[in-house]
Amino acid sequence: MKLHITVLPGDGVGPEVTREAVRVLRTAADLYGCEVSFEEHTIGGVAIRECGAPLPEATARACMQSQAVLLGAVGGPEFDSLPAGQRPESGLLALRQALGGYANLRPAIAYGAIADCSPLRPEIIKGADVLIVRELLGGIYFAEPRGFESGSCPSAYNTMRYSEAEIERVAHVAFQQARMRHRKVTSVDKANVLETSQLWRKTVTRIAREYPEINLDHMYVDSCAMRLITHPGSFDVILTENLFGDILSDEAAVISGSLGMLASATIGGKVDLYEPVHGSAPDIAGRGIANPLGAIASAAMLLRHSARLEQAARDIEDAIREVLDAGHRTADLSRGRAKRAVSTAEMGTLVESAVADVTDRRRAYHAV
Ligand code: IPM
Ligand code: MN
Repeated sequence: MKLHITVLPGDGVGPEVTREAVRVLRTAADLYGCEVSFEEHTIGGVAIRECGAPLPEATARACMQSQAVLLGAVGGPEFDSLPAGQRPESGLLALRQALGGYANLRPAIAYGAIADCSPLRPEIIKGADVLIVRELLGGIYFAEPRGFESGSCPSAYNTMRYSEAEIERVAHVAFQQARMRHRKVTSVDKANVLETSQLWRKTVTRIAREYPEINLDHMYVDSCAMRLITHPGSFDVILTENLFGDILSDEAAVISGSLGMLASATIGGKVDLYEPVHGSAPDIAGRGIANPLGAIASAAMLLRHSARLEQAARDIEDAIREVLDAGHRTADLSRGRAKRAVSTAEMGTLVESAVADVTDRRRAYHAV
C-alpha cells in the first residue's frame, strides 16, 4: 500500500512537533509494509511571510492531491492586528473548507502515568476516555452574514446557522464512533436559548433511531462544561457543534494533563486532516521543548482512518503509553519533578523505538 501525505508544519512549535510525528509515522508505516511519501508545504504565518497568503494556491492543490494532510499549528502574535480574513487562522479555516471534512474527532484520555499533571484529583480523572466529535464546517465559524458596522456606536455580528443536513452527517459519525466504544453519545447544545440548538437536538434524536444500540442523552453546554471537570469518566462520545466543540475540547485537555497531549482527526471530506489540538505556542517555539505527543497521536489517527492500519495506530498509542509509563516527560508534563524533562526530539525518538518494540513483541507473541 502507498500513502502520499502533505505535511504542513506551519507556525511556532508546529515544525518541531510535526517532525517527530513524521518520524514515528514513517517507522510505523514501514513496519506494516505501507509505503509513505511526504511533501511539505507552507500554511499560516510562514505562508503569509513567504507568499503573501495564509493558504497559498500550491499548498491547497498539494493537499487536494494527497491521501491525508498532517498539520502542525498556525498563528502568532505578530499577525494579531491583521483583519480576520488575512490572519494565519483563516488559512486553516479555508483549508478545512477545501478538504471538506466536517467531523473533527478529538479524543481526551487520562493516562495513568501522568495523572499528577492534571489539576483534577486522580480519582476524578481515573479511567476517563472521552471522544469529542466536533462539527467543523458549520455554525458561527462560517455562516454569513458576518462583519462590522460603523456608526455612532460601532458594532460587530456573526451568524450561527445550521442546516439539518449538516447536523445529520456529523451525528452519523458520532453514533458510528460510539458503536466502537462504550455505545453512549451525549449531544451538547444550548436548546434552552438557541434555535440552531433546537434543530440540533431534534435532528440528533431522529438520527439516533437508526442506532438503537446507542444510548443518547442531551446536555446543555454550560452544564456539560462543568460535568466534564467533575465527572469526566461519565462521558463516552460528546457530539457538538463547532464553537462549543472548540471550547470543550480545550477544556477536556485537563483530563490528559496537558494540551500538548491532544490529537485530532477531521474526516468525512475529500481528504482527511490530522492536527494536534494545541496551537503554535509562540512562547516556547524554537526551543525544542514542546510536547510532540499530540502530533504523534494525530499520526496514529492518520494510520487508522486514512490508511486503515488499525493495528499500526494502536502500536503508536501503546508506544506513547509505554514511554509515559517509563517516566519520560516533556517540560509541560514534568512539573518540577527531579527527573530531567526530555526534549521534543528525544520524546519523538523514544516513541519511535517503542513502536518498533511494541510491534516486535506483539508479532513474537502471535508467532508462538
Ligand atoms: C482549533 C483551533 C482553531 C479553531 C483556530 C486556530 C482557527 O482553535 O483547532 O481548535 O478554532 O478551530
Ligand atoms: Mn481550539
